[in-house]
Parts: sequence; C-alpha cells; structure tokens
Amino acid sequence: MENNDLEQYILNHIDEEPPLLKSLYRDAYVNLLRPRMLSGHLQGRILKMFCRMMRPKHILEIGTYTAYATLCLAEGADDDAVIHTIEVNDELEDFILRYLHETKLKEKIHLHLGDASEIIPKLDCIFDLVFIDADKRDYIEYYNLVFDKIRPGGLIIADNTLWSGKVTEKAHHTDRQTIGIQEFNDYVAKDSRIEKVIIPIRDGLTLIWKK
Ligand SMILES: C[S@@+](CC[C@H](N)C(=O)[O-])C[C@H]1O[C@@H](n2cnc3c(N)ncnc32)[C@H](O)[C@@H]1O
Repeated sequence: MENNDLEQYILNHIDEEPPLLKSLYRDAYVNLLRPRMLSGHLQGRILKMFCRMMRPKHILEIGTYTAYATLCLAEGADDDAVIHTIEVNDELEDFILRYLHETKLKEKIHLHLGDASEIIPKLDCIFDLVFIDADKRDYIEYYNLVFDKIRPGGLIIADNTLWSGKVTEKAHHTDRQTIGIQEFNDYVAKDSRIEKVIIPIRDGLTLIWKK
C-alpha cells in the first residue's frame, strides 16, 4: 500500500478537520511561504487529543506560524485554559488574527510577537504542556528556557524531531537545522530528569514527561 493511501485512510477514519482550519490551510497554501510548516489535519487532531487527555490549564506554544496548532490546542483544552503562543515573524500577525477573530477560542489565546528566547523568561507562569515548534537550530535553548517553568508531571511535545529522516545521516556542517535537531535528540536522550519517547508520525514528535 502506498503511504499516501494509508495517510488518506487515516484521515478518513479520524475526526474531521473543522471548517475554519480547512479554510486556514487552503489560505496558507495560496498565500504564505512554506505552508508545509503547519501541523495539518492528523497532527492537529493529535494535539487536540493530548489536551483532552491531560486537561492542561497553562499551555505554551513556541512557533505560532498560522496558529493552526494553537487553535487545535485551544479546541481540546478546557474553557478556563490559557494558551500562550510565541511568533517571531510579525508579518504573520494579520493572518493569525484574522483566524483567531473567527472563533471564540481566541479568548483562551495570548499571542506574543517576538523572539521566544526573549519572551519565555518574561512569562510568569508554570506550564502543564509546552509545544516546541520554532527554529530547529534553537531547540536546546527553548528546552532549557522552559524546563523550570514546567510542573513535575508536565509534558513537552517537540515537533520535527525526525526531520524527514535526516537525523540518521551525518549532517553537512552547514546544515544547522539538521545538526540542531540531532543535538536536541541526543541532549534529551541523556536527560535523566525526564521520560521520553519519539512517535514516528508526520515528521516525528518527541513526548517528554517531566519527572
Ligand atoms: C513550524 S512553524 C510553526 C507551526 C505551528 N506550530 C503549527 O504546528 O501549525 C515555526 C514558526 O516558528 C517561528 N519562529 C522561528 N524562530 C522563532 C523564535 N526564535 N521565536 C518565535 N518564533 C520563532 C517561525 O517564524 C515559524 O512561523
């Protein structure tokens, strides 16, 4: 069976993508650069399911892009949950706000425009769930910045940790993104303060549970 057939089969047998996210997805593919960065139907439903299961009250997303994943996290979280999401590219602000204003979920979402490395230290909050999905070169930095802001029993989800399979190959010294992900994976593997597992869906999701 072709991988595409299997992917389509999965999408036909899971919860539907909400109409707003379908429009956002199409809009991103027509109007934005690098639309493949957004989480999409399957990963979005998985993020929502994590929120359903964990019922996190304080969520942090590092790397908003279109707010596709932000909306999925907000959809799964309880009404009194708060989602902080950080995006460095302020040219995305109009796109993000246009979709947030289409839904009541915006009441749970706090968008921070700026560099995550500067914004995370200023967030006075203990998080239950953190989704790391910004610059692949800086994953270790984000991880260290958020670690003390996560409660014991809290979860970090790191996206793209298989990086299209490139993690198994020797990276060219100029390929800083692959090297960043490889170093992050090695760092997490050695960290005894956590339990971790890599789920090989899409581009790889690492689940990191703080002891
Ligand atoms: C892979 S996309 C995020 C996708 C989104 N989380 C989703 O799943 O739909 C990565 C985003 O991180 C942003 N980014 C990169 N470096 C950043 C930084 N230092 N601080 C905040 N955002 C950053 C990029 O501009 C880009 O929009």
